[in-house]
Amino acid sequence: MLSTQRKGEMKIEKVSKSFGYHPFQQQVLKDVSINLRDSKLTVLIGPSGCGKSTLINLLAGYDKPDEGTILLNGQSVSGPGSDRLVVFQETALFPWMNTFDNVAYGPRVSRKLSRSEITDQVRTLLEKVGLQDFQSKYPSQLSGGMQRRAELARMMINNPAVMFLDEPFRGLDAMTRELMQEYFVALLEEQSQTVLFVTSEIDEAIFLADHLLIMSNRPGTIIKEMEIKLQRPRHKDMLKSVEYLDYKREALELLHAEALKAFAGGSKASQDFLEAFHKEHLE
Ligand SMILES: Nc1ncnc2c1ncn2[C@@H]1O[C@H](COP(=O)(O)OP(=O)(O)OP(=O)(O)O)[C@@H](O)[C@H]1O
Ligand SMILES: [Mg+2]
Repeated sequence: MLSTQRKGEMKIEKVSKSFGYHPFQQQVLKDVSINLRDSKLTVLIGPSGCGKSTLINLLAGYDKPDEGTILLNGQSVSGPGSDRLVVFQETALFPWMNTFDNVAYGPRVSRKLSRSEITDQVRTLLEKVGLQDFQSKYPSQLSGGMQRRAELARMMINNPAVMFLDEPFRGLDAMTRELMQEYFVALLEEQSQTVLFVTSEIDEAIFLADHLLIMSNRPGTIIKEMEIKLQRPRHKDMLKSVEYLDYKREALELLHAEALKAFAGGSKASQDFLEAFHKEHLE
């Protein structure tokens, strides 16, 4: 459907990052090494404040690491580029454009496609995300979930080599969130892309991932890598399988240990995590 798939392989080696100046300097990332494999969905999960968004900013080229290297297809990343696109948690749709124009924006600006090719691609993508009947609506007329779907379409039409999604479904109600995960997984299973998806939600993480990375408390570093070998296409039924529950138990134990440490440091988010953890496991 879209133009030929671009290769997207990232190698992140021993990346460290601090903010502030002595004596108030705070190390946020420490020796982070990750491989984002071509056409695979890597999920990064970690406690609040551990440096996930900081890492995305470095990979997207909005900021530079203090130490370490970031390579895309063997080339050093030195700034932002259209080969790497980010979807943030907050909506970034243009409020003055309708859904169709928002999705068509990238290819119109880059001028690589004809008008009719753009129309075809926008229509196909809007259908895939279930927004075909909302193409003339403006962002304020769309629900939160629809806005997120429009944004996914708007990013995918640009066919980046790598997509970064920083907790894109945070703040949506539980049912919409599940639906979004299903849309997203189906889109990617159809058109494989290299993706780094950041979340703090364990079910979302395992449901989506080919490869799961667990990050420690600040300074964030990767404490565990897991291959998630659940079959594709993925279905929500898989969340009840023994295989799935084993992955979840293993990941939760590590996250729990990290949350306990953060809790000792007074983090509100870790308090929420621990409450949820105990509810799930002790009741
Ligand atoms: N530009 C900056 N200047 C100073 N400190 C920063 C900057 N960006 C991030 N930090 C600090 O780095 C730490 C990590 O922040 P970051 O947003 O990367 O965490 P996160 O894992 O994405 O958290 P959350 O789960 O809340 O989104 C925080 O303590 C934050 O205050
Ligand atoms: Mg963040």
